Amino acid sequence: MLVIDSLDAGYDRTPVLHSVSITVRPASMVAVIGANGAGKSTLLRAVSGLIKPSGGTVSVDGHSVKYRSEREVVQAGISHVPEGRQVFANLTVQENLRLGGYTTRRRGDLSARQSDLIDLFPELGSRFRSYAGSLSGGQQQMLAIARGLMAGPRYLLLDEPSLGLAPQVVDKIFVALLSLRQRGVGILLVEQNGRMALANADEGCLLEQGHLTMSGTGRKLLGDPAVVEKYLGVGSSIGGSERQKAIASRLASALRL
Ligand SMILES: Nc1ncnc2c1ncn2[C@@H]1O[C@H](COP(=O)(O)OP(=O)(O)OP(=O)(O)O)[C@@H](O)[C@H]1O
Ligand SMILES: [Mg+2]
Repeated sequence: MLVIDSLDAGYDRTPVLHSVSITVRPASMVAVIGANGAGKSTLLRAVSGLIKPSGGTVSVDGHSVKYRSEREVVQAGISHVPEGRQVFANLTVQENLRLGGYTTRRRGDLSARQSDLIDLFPELGSRFRSYAGSLSGGQQQMLAIARGLMAGPRYLLLDEPSLGLAPQVVDKIFVALLSLRQRGVGILLVEQNGRMALANADEGCLLEQGHLTMSGTGRKLLGDPAVVEKYLGVGSSIGGSERQKAIASRLASALRL
């Protein structure tokens, strides 16, 4: 399990996260939603070693990863896909993927992972030798996720993968995430617009000004009028989320995931 316990973190002398505790089990998805500036990205950075927590613990299967370097955190089984689809535009899809496997020594593992990823994101397979900068926004997001997966993580931290993408593209990304979950990967997903995330998550958490103020099943958060009003926008309802879930599962079965 990935256990984040009473985590405090921030920048210089600005505290952002206050005693945040979240557990991500293998083969499960935890969605964290919250407004701009709530600390969602800071949470992922503190888990992956990009910033050093000032208090609390982060551990994988009982082994602490707090104060480890980013590389060591990757080797412990955690990949972080940061916000903003950070692919190397001047490198090809294949070269981007190779960079994602930098902590893996065995070439055999890398080529097996590469073919798994093409199964997961068939669109990338046909663009293997294209420059990442020439891909669509959705394909770049797929590539950013695929690059994170090249390290063979057991836990995937995802920062707003659906931001700015058309609904059909978001569906494809969620289908891939559901498939990864089915294969045993634990997913910690942060999203500002969390309807799709909550509809598919095993657990939802609400982050407000660095505090975890609510957690429970995704369904519980989707059914909470205050959450809906503040974070999910007008028109959101259990009915709507069920529809999105149904779309994702239809897509998944069409793709035989
Ligand atoms: N590199 C940084 N240096 C200093 N302060 C930062 C830095 N990054 C973020 N912050 C501050 O930390 C707080 C939390 O920011 P964070 O980026 O974690 O929020 P977020 O929930 O991811 O927001 P968004 O939805 O906009 O991505 C904000 O007040 C922000 O201004
Ligand atoms: Mg953010």
